[in-house]
Amino acid sequence: MIDPVLRQYEAYPYPERDPADEATRLITGSPSHPVELDHFLFEGARDWSRPFRALVAGGGTGDGLIMLAQILADHGVDAEIIYLDMSVASRRIAEARAAARGLTSIRFETGDLLRAGEYGSFDYIDCCGVLHHLPDPDAGFAALRGALAEGGGLGGMVYAPYGRAGVYEMQDALRALVADDPPEAQVAHTRGVIQSLVPTNGLKRNPFLNDHTHGGDAGLYDLLLHSRDRPYDVDALFDALERADLDFASFTTPGRYDPRLMLADPVLRERAGALTYRQRAALAERLVGNIKVHSFYATAKGAEPRIASPSPDAVPSLIGVSGAALAESVYRNGVIRGEVDGIGFQRALPKDAAGILTGMDGRRNLDEIRSMIGWEAERFYSLFNTLYQPLNNFGLMRFSRLKRLASRS
Ligand SMILES: C[S@@+](CC[C@H](N)C(=O)[O-])C[C@H]1O[C@@H](n2cnc3c(N)ncnc32)[C@H](O)[C@@H]1O
Repeated sequence: MIDPVLRQYEAYPYPERDPADEATRLITGSPSHPVELDHFLFEGARDWSRPFRALVAGGGTGDGLIMLAQILADHGVDAEIIYLDMSVASRRIAEARAAARGLTSIRFETGDLLRAGEYGSFDYIDCCGVLHHLPDPDAGFAALRGALAEGGGLGGMVYAPYGRAGVYEMQDALRALVADDPPEAQVAHTRGVIQSLVPTNGLKRNPFLNDHTHGGDAGLYDLLLHSRDRPYDVDALFDALERADLDFASFTTPGRYDPRLMLADPVLRERAGALTYRQRAALAERLVGNIKVHSFYATAKGAEPRIASPSPDAVPSLIGVSGAALAESVYRNGVIRGEVDGIGFQRALPKDAAGILTGMDGRRNLDEIRSMIGWEAERFYSLFNTLYQPLNNFGLMRFSRLKRLASRS
C-alpha cells in the first residue's frame, strides 16, 4: 500500500511553486541562508573558499534548496548540494526551478531521508517541514545526525503546537468526514467546511493561519488534511534532539524565545531569568502564543558551540532590513526600533552611532568599520553591542565572511 504522505506530496507538491517565477524573485528565509548558517554553525568565520557539501533532506518543491544553491553560486562557492525527497512530483518542480536559474551544483535524488547516510557526509543538512511527517521522526533525526560530517551542522524546522491552535482538532474532524474521499474531493469538502465554520471554531479564531486557509489546494491539504503531522513544543524538540545525539545550537530568532521580552513585571522577569535556557524557551513559547514553527540549528553532541559573536575580525551583515533606514532612524530619533512577529524592540543610541550602520556593507569587518568612523575601541564595541543584541535576537544581523571572500576572488 502506498504511504499516505507520499500519495499526498505526489498529488499536491508543497509549497506550490511555478518555476517561471524564478525569473522575477528569489525566495529566502530561515534556516539555510548561507550567511545565517555560517553565523550559527561556523562562528561566522567559515572559509568559503573551501568546498561545501550540503544535503537538503525532504527538499520538496525546492525553496531552501534554491536559496542555498543560488546564493552560494552568486558568491562563487565550490558547492555540491544533494536534494533528496521521496516525491517525484516535488522533485520535478525543484529541478525545473534549478534549471530556470542555470544552477549546476545540485544532484537530485529520489528516496527516503532515512537513507541519508548513503549519500556521504555533509557540512550542512537542511531539513525543513519534514521530520514531523515521518512515521518514526526519531529515526529521521538519527539518520540526519549520522550523515553530518565532523564539525558540520543541521538547520531544521518542525511544526509547533500553540501557534497552530485550531489545526489539530480540524484535522481530526475532517478525518471523520472525508478520509475515504479522493484528494480533490477532500479539498473541495474542506473549502466548504471552512466557509461555514461557526465563530467559536479554533481555526477561525487563530489569526496567524490565514495564509494557509486562503492559499492554494496544496497549502490547504498540508494544513488540514495531512495524514501524519505531529507538532513539537520546545520540550519535545529538545528531547528529540537529545535522543538523536544532537546538541541544540540556537533558534533562528532567539528573541522570540526570551520570556523576559514578554513580561512587564520586573519580579517575574527576574524569575524567568533564573530559569535554564530550555525552561525559558518553553515558557516563552506558551506566553507568546504565535510560534507556528520552530526554526533551529543543531550540531553533533559534544561538539564545541560555534555561534558567532562580535570580535574585531567578525563581518556583520544585515538581513531583511536596510542599514540606511536604521541609520536614518538613529540619526533622526536616537533609536533603532522594530517589530518581529508581534514582539517589538527599541534601543536608544547616540546619533553618531548611525555611522556604524552606514559602514556595514557585509564585507567590512568590525575593526574596519571602527577605523572608518574613527572611534576608539571601547566606545565602538560598547555601542555596537547595544545595537547588535536586538538585531541578532530577531534575525536581522548575522556574522559571515561569505561576501568578503567573494569580493576578493
Ligand atoms: C512540507 S514539504 C517541505 C518541503 C521543503 N523542505 C520546504 O521547506 O519547502 C515536506 C516534504 O518532505 C518530503 N518527505 C516526507 N517524508 C520524507 C522521507 N521520509 N524522505 C524523504 N522525503 C520525505 C515530502 O515528499 C515533501 O516533499
